[in-house]
Amino acid sequence: MVTASAPGKVYLFGEHAVVYGEPAVPCAIERRATVTVDRRDDARLRVESADLHISGFTVEYDAVGGTAPDVDAPTPLLEAATGYVDAAIEQARDAADAPDAGFDVHVESEIPLGGGLGSSAAVVVATIAAATAALGVDVEDREIAERAYRAESAVQDGEASRADTFCSTMGGAVRVAGDDCRTLGNPDLPFVVGYDGGAGDTGELVAGVRALRDEYDFAADTVSAIGDVVRRGETLIADAADDPTEETLEELGALMNFNHGLLEALGVSSRSLDEMVWAAREAGAAGAKLTGAGGGGCIVALDAGEGTETALDLTPTCEDVFRAELATEGVRVE
Ligand code: MEV
Repeated sequence: MVTASAPGKVYLFGEHAVVYGEPAVPCAIERRATVTVDRRDDARLRVESADLHISGFTVEYDAVGGTAPDVDAPTPLLEAATGYVDAAIEQARDAADAPDAGFDVHVESEIPLGGGLGSSAAVVVATIAAATAALGVDVEDREIAERAYRAESAVQDGEASRADTFCSTMGGAVRVAGDDCRTLGNPDLPFVVGYDGGAGDTGELVAGVRALRDEYDFAADTVSAIGDVVRRGETLIADAADDPTEETLEELGALMNFNHGLLEALGVSSRSLDEMVWAAREAGAAGAKLTGAGGGGCIVALDAGEGTETALDLTPTCEDVFRAELATEGVRVE
């Protein structure tokens, strides 16, 4: 039996635009997915979850590589969760050259599914780490990240960047542009997360941005403008090293606001996300934006004071609010 865990993340900048090769800066946060695998005598997979922020479930099936299993009345989220585990196990089998390896897989996660905090990436990364360790192969972090990207891509019909999976594997702040993936250290950024209890459909949201970008030059320009915001933001982070000054935090916040406006223009925000963003700003946060694919889920604000948490708590669309510490450690076998 082997257990591995991997962190979720918030996007400081750059979601959606990263799908088209622009840079993005996600930061890992101390909310983890933990996956335990146990070898079976047959080639089947049994996936069980006690807590994925949906009701617990158990499914047993023959894994077929990134395709969700046929279970009775699955919710879309359950289908997605099992599809990601399935695709991750496929990658572990491939890494170990063990195509018939079967597993009992137990998933626990502190990261709401589909809420923009990288839940699927964390589950995929932790599953690959646990299953390859159980098969006795030593896989380096960069290979775990690459395999996790392939697994996510398979489930999302090729509409995935390397940002979520690389960040979850490496921990800290990272910078991803296409297949150029780098770590940026551990900047001390005071993140507050607001969660509306909902979830967006990443595939649909990414397809929506693609359609806009194909139809209108100004939508393509909006995507490029997000890249420009990220380039400015990453310079600030590099200059600040791990200890940003008040001035740097103020400018990072202003860039987050700009980034949110561009995402809103691309149609991926929602009324509840906007309400949380405005509540955080009015309470004095340096900046606030949606994180992840959007449509519902989480916002991230930059704020060292107590005001933002209280204001989000009082926002009717906000179901949960928490301070998110940067996770300096990425994937680990427990
Ligand atoms: C989803 O967490 C982030 C997106 O940019 C998609 C991706 O990068 O794979 C919307």
